Amino acid sequence: MSQNQSRRIVVTSALPYANGDIHIGHLVEYLQTDFWVRFQKMRGHACVYVCADDTHGTPVMIRARDEGITPEELIARSHAQHVRDFTDFEIGFSHYGSTNCGENRALCNRIFAAMEAGGHISKRNVPQFYCEHDGMFLPDRFVKGGCPACGAAGQYGDSCDACGATYAAGELKAPACAVCGRPPATRDSEHLFFELDHFRDYLRQWIPAHTAKDVANKLLEWFGEALRGWDISRDAPYFGFEIPGHPGKFFYVWVDAPIGYMASLEKWCQQQGERFDDWWNNPEAELYHFIGKDIVRFHCLFWPAMLHCGGFKGPDQVFVHGFLTVNGEKMSKSKGTFISARTFLDHVEAQYLRFYYACKLNGTTDDIDLNFDDFIQRVNSDLVGKITNLASRGA
Ligand code: 2FM
Ligand code: ZN
Repeated sequence: MSQNQSRRIVVTSALPYANGDIHIGHLVEYLQTDFWVRFQKMRGHACVYVCADDTHGTPVMIRARDEGITPEELIARSHAQHVRDFTDFEIGFSHYGSTNCGENRALCNRIFAAMEAGGHISKRNVPQFYCEHDGMFLPDRFVKGGCPACGAAGQYGDSCDACGATYAAGELKAPACAVCGRPPATRDSEHLFFELDHFRDYLRQWIPAHTAKDVANKLLEWFGEALRGWDISRDAPYFGFEIPGHPGKFFYVWVDAPIGYMASLEKWCQQQGERFDDWWNNPEAELYHFIGKDIVRFHCLFWPAMLHCGGFKGPDQVFVHGFLTVNGEKMSKSKGTFISARTFLDHVEAQYLRFYYACKLNGTTDDIDLNFDDFIQRVNSDLVGKITNLASRGA
């Protein structure tokens, strides 16, 4: 490609969950992506930045039920709040959508149809907790019990809030249904698995060509044995898309979330009078995802396999960043360092955080630290003292 030719670039940031606020940890990624997109636009390239709320799954259902509202009401409220936060941080999305839209459902169905037609879906029985009283299978977050690691009571079936351990719901001590408190039974449920190992050769080539060396090396460690099939179905009740031809089964939220990137791009195309295929499936168009290191396997294993299976072009590169620490430690609610975007804006200019993150960000998966003393010092001396002083002298 000649240096002067304008490129066609699609860029995404990971979709934030609709059941929570945007916080300063999230902002590392949205700001990193926003800087990158602005840079490409300044170089004269056509760059479309899409994102959306990640709306499906159990936590949204539980939160809505606890608040006495429908999941649809909850996700509408979150969407408005998220858009307000992003706007006030001057993050320039071309389109900010929702995974709960018709375009996303249609794309999910299309990719799933290709999976089935290609013989890449298997059915296997999975033992699941079932509440006889409420007449339903209990997803991990609908079961509570003692943490198998530290013994703390009242923990959910996937992870412990007290010690941070993650585990399978079946390992909980004295499990109980989170709805009625009764001990659940165990029943087999038939789940659908996407046979990832069918894409083994494709992925083995794709990974080192489209991810950084350290990310690729970690992923390739899994190729020593067969890649396990990925359980892509969840039992009703589940807030999400029902799987065509499989009544009572829903796409696991991690299936429709990345497809939400495509749906959001499609919405943007509709608004702009553009053709989706000119932007996604065009070999001349480029696709880049920005993500955190906790969701690498979804974006660099399952996702390229899904796209390849569905006949879509894969990402050109997945950029992976580290976590945010505050004063050298994990963000913590009790220490007051778990700061929402809105709380930050209530006290400090958005530009200060934009500047600080821009100074600290780099191309590695190392964590970045927001140190309050350093933050104050850099803003006062570098941003206000040097840059603003230079501008005012220049003027
Ligand atoms: O980890 C998360 O916060 C997810 N909501 C990210 C989804 S990114 C994409 F795949 F949709
Ligand atoms: Zn129950």
